[in-house]
Amino acid sequence: MLLICTAVLHRDHSDFLCCLPACCVAGYFSVLAVVLKTSEESPSTDEFNRVELSCLIESISTINPRIEWKKITNNKPSYVYFDRRISGDLENRAVIREPATLVITNATRSDTAKYRCEVTAADDNKSFDEIVIDLVVRVKPVVPKCSVPKSVPFGKLAELSCVEEEGFPKSQYQWFKNSEEIPEDPKSSPKFLNSSYTLNTGTGTLRFTSVIKEDAGEYYCRAKNDAGHAQCAPQKMEVYDIDIVGIVLGVLVVVIVLLCITVGICCAYKQGYFSGQKQTGNNYKVPAKGDGVDYVRTEDEGDFRHKSSFVI
Ligand SMILES: *[C@@H]1O[C@H](CO)[C@@H](O)[C@H](O)[C@H]1NC(C)=O
Ligand SMILES: *[C@@H]1O[C@H](CO)[C@@H](O)[C@H](O)[C@H]1NC(C)=O
Repeated sequence: MLLICTAVLHRDHSDFLCCLPACCVAGYFSVLAVVLKTSEESPSTDEFNRVELSCLIESISTINPRIEWKKITNNKPSYVYFDRRISGDLENRAVIREPATLVITNATRSDTAKYRCEVTAADDNKSFDEIVIDLVVRVKPVVPKCSVPKSVPFGKLAELSCVEEEGFPKSQYQWFKNSEEIPEDPKSSPKFLNSSYTLNTGTGTLRFTSVIKEDAGEYYCRAKNDAGHAQCAPQKMEVYDIDIVGIVLGVLVVVIVLLCITVGICCAYKQGYFSGQKQTGNNYKVPAKGDGVDYVRTEDEGDFRHKSSFVI
């Protein structure tokens, strides 16, 4: 086969070159070169699962090629498989399956990276080939941190937030009100038609520019990605009315009560002042029980002082 193809090539270059049978070209190189391929260039898996980084040798003529795997993080390669041994972080979690496929038996989030399969075949003309596999290990979201204001005045702004940072790929967010999903666009549902919210599914923020009575309810948020989802417990948001007439009445009542108290204190003070004067007078005229002790108000301190009586 190879000889026939070569002969054709020699007779006419321009026409026959492009109509050469594919098997001839492949066959011609396969004798001389190591060629790698993969069945999956960008595999992905959930955390703690098994995943294969496929590295297949399409053609080779060297009996005992050197096979290496490198993990590339931030453009820096480190050995994963070298000298027929798994090394580094993957040491007890990966095996090589013939000819060169790397099988990770229990993937973790830190395995997300690019991996390079390199095969050196000393006896081939083209003695080196490599392929890069891009691995993504998905991580389930954890329960998000949700913040829902307990009560919001009618017509005011309200912001509900939801944050989850473990999930990979990054979590997307959904909000639920009374167990019903809140649509991204309020206008798309008759139930939410009058609501003034905007929902950001990327940041998890649900923001009402002006709350209405109908916005009151139990809210919870769900963080989700391809690996799974998690949600926080429902929290109640109440909407209360700021009633102008009520506020004016309330202020009036407070003012009236304050006036009454002030007047009351004034009266009590005056009465107390007069009774104090009388008491001093009484003490002076009629000594109490003749105990030889008298209470006298001193002018400078406005206080009662112990003084011995001069009546005895
Ligand atoms: C995978 O690893 C995690 C943590 O390192 C461990 O908890 C889990 O049991 C392992 N799963 C298997 C199937 O080995
Ligand atoms: C929305 O507002 C309109 C007009 O104020 C009202 O007729 C309608 O009942 C409201 N819809 C909801 C769902 O509250």
